[in-house]
Amino acid sequence: MSPTRITVGGERPYDVVIGAGVLGELPALAGAGAVAQRECQVAVIFPVCLAGIAAEACRALVAAGYRVHAEEIPDGEAAKEIAVAARLWSRLAFHRIGRSDCIVGIGGGAACDLAGFVAATWLRGIRAVLVPTTLLGMVDAAIGGKTAINIPEGKNLVGAFHPPAGVLADLDTLASLPKLEYISGLAEVIKAGFIADPTILELIESDPPAATGPGGPVIELVERAVRVKAAVVAADLREAGPREFLNYGHTLAHAIERVEEFGFRHGEAVSIGMAYAAALGRLSGRLDEATAARHCDVLAAVGLPITYRDGAWPRLRSAMAVDKKTRGSRLRFVVLDGLGRPAILADPAEELLEQAYREVCL
Ligand code: GLY
Repeated sequence: MSPTRITVGGERPYDVVIGAGVLGELPALAGAGAVAQRECQVAVIFPVCLAGIAAEACRALVAAGYRVHAEEIPDGEAAKEIAVAARLWSRLAFHRIGRSDCIVGIGGGAACDLAGFVAATWLRGIRAVLVPTTLLGMVDAAIGGKTAINIPEGKNLVGAFHPPAGVLADLDTLASLPKLEYISGLAEVIKAGFIADPTILELIESDPPAATGPGGPVIELVERAVRVKAAVVAADLREAGPREFLNYGHTLAHAIERVEEFGFRHGEAVSIGMAYAAALGRLSGRLDEATAARHCDVLAAVGLPITYRDGAWPRLRSAMAVDKKTRGSRLRFVVLDGLGRPAILADPAEELLEQAYREVCL
């Protein structure tokens, strides 16, 4: 089956290529619009657990005539450290990576964020091609151009908007993804369903177990979620308007991640955050009962959490106050005015916030 190509519009449009066994497309993406491939260098950044996929990617690039440099990074969030970025900058200097060269980032959300950040900052910006290997990476982290590393004061506080030159979502890489990681990625897919594409919800609801692994409707789910994100970021790269809707469920989710010292899966936090946002929407008279209940039903059906610890509210509330998406001291939540109709709830009453929290308490 030929891969699907979804173009993300904007100042510098790029393609997200989705399909099984599409790693062979990497040389074309890495070189698109650049100088002759034999003069082009590619730095391939990957965590050690993906050495096999990285080796395959390097072989394809070498066979196409690129000079290739493989650079290993730590697994997971440990990659998003300034020391890791600094080591990579030194390696790029050593290899004399220039403006017409390319960085390929292979891995989950953290590897994509780091690779994008290093590409954004090296020589004030060189091309990056991202090869997400997790469901979350495919439908969210690799698309949209936000790149970042963490500092002790907070997650993603240092970064840049730097859209990739291409994204390659090879669905074969999902086969080795641990089940809980896969299910965590489904939270962002389900989010896309609630804010923009209810067919996603219908696909999952028709056979929840089939949706929890990389068979079943995975291709259609990934394609639909990518189309939702692509449309939003094409219209609003810098989050001046509708891009904020992608944060559905994320205000509470970021607070949970902070309280858990980032030892909580992002998708699981987003799942609880969406259950909370649904309660907020319903209690504020904006969302109907049935759509609010549908959140908990579909999230729980695929094994995502919809409750969090009783007694945690004071810490979560303080964590929300320092979220980088608050404006001044005013909290902003994305809620739904109906299925597929996201809107902003600004500065909600404290009692409403607490009442909604009681609905997601264990
Ligand atoms: N890199 C993730 C985003 O731009 O949303």
